[in-house]
Amino acid sequence: MTEADLYILYKGVYVPKAVHTPESLKYYEEFTFRPDDVIIVTYPKSGTTWMQEILPLTISGGDPSSVETLPNWDRVPWLEETRASNLNLEERPSPRMLTTHLHYSMMPPSFFQVKPKVIYVMRNPKDVFTSSYHYYNITSFLVKPGPKSEFLQKFLDGKVIFGSWFDHVKGWLNAEEKQHIMYISYEEMIKQDLNDSVSRIARFLGINLNPEVIKKIADKCLFENMKNNPMSNYSVVPQEFMDQTKCQFLRKGVVGDWKNLLTPEEAKHFDAVFKEKMKDVKYKFAWD
Ligand code: A3P
Repeated sequence: MTEADLYILYKGVYVPKAVHTPESLKYYEEFTFRPDDVIIVTYPKSGTTWMQEILPLTISGGDPSSVETLPNWDRVPWLEETRASNLNLEERPSPRMLTTHLHYSMMPPSFFQVKPKVIYVMRNPKDVFTSSYHYYNITSFLVKPGPKSEFLQKFLDGKVIFGSWFDHVKGWLNAEEKQHIMYISYEEMIKQDLNDSVSRIARFLGINLNPEVIKKIADKCLFENMKNNPMSNYSVVPQEFMDQTKCQFLRKGVVGDWKNLLTPEEAKHFDAVFKEKMKDVKYKFAWD
């Protein structure tokens, strides 16, 4: 199956047909935000599911009930996916927790008027590539990665779902108004103690958490604990859509796994493309 079979082109980027329809994209375009909404924004494979665990626990002051009873896609739903319109998001109490993979330039008009809170999670693109390479291979609604060199070229050219990593990150980093956006990286979350990230998120949201609660949240969000949470490990998705017998969704959860996939030449080429595409970006990335 090729891109033409499985994807639609939405505002210049591929999105998988199976979970995005013209209706679902219209729902998203007409969505009305509230100022106290909290939106997780990511390029796929950057730590979305991880943040979908951290955020509800932080907002609820450590109450695990939502992460233990609701799958991540209902708990912090993707606005652009078909499910969103059936979830009665209009009726959900504040603060609503939402997710999107869309670029800054694609956000609907209400987003720019209301300026809801955004948590933008980014990750070393070489690890995003590596995670994607394995993930595309287990999902029936994505085009199989094929030979690594071909997939690498597609990734660098943005011919993958949600387009170019470089454009995504640049767009969100260059957001006109940044005071409602918190930037955090997968590497900060992993390398530093997750306790620090949880306190940063809580501070950004104006939530007071005591150190024991912060520790409890951080423990619950450890890779091994999330791997055992059926509401977060995608085990309820039928095998025909996601074949986790080949590779688990919560695969390795480490920094630097690209070293096991990319040759030194491929890594060098990746870095050169990164340098060129990100030359105007002043941001100090955590993986540098
Ligand atoms: P790997 O494939 O490198 O293991 P997303 O949710 O955006 O699709 O990102 C998925 C990636 O985040 C996967 O990376 C997954 O293992 C990793 N991940 C999810 N939860 C994590 C956690 N608690 N700790 C570390 N990594 C996590």
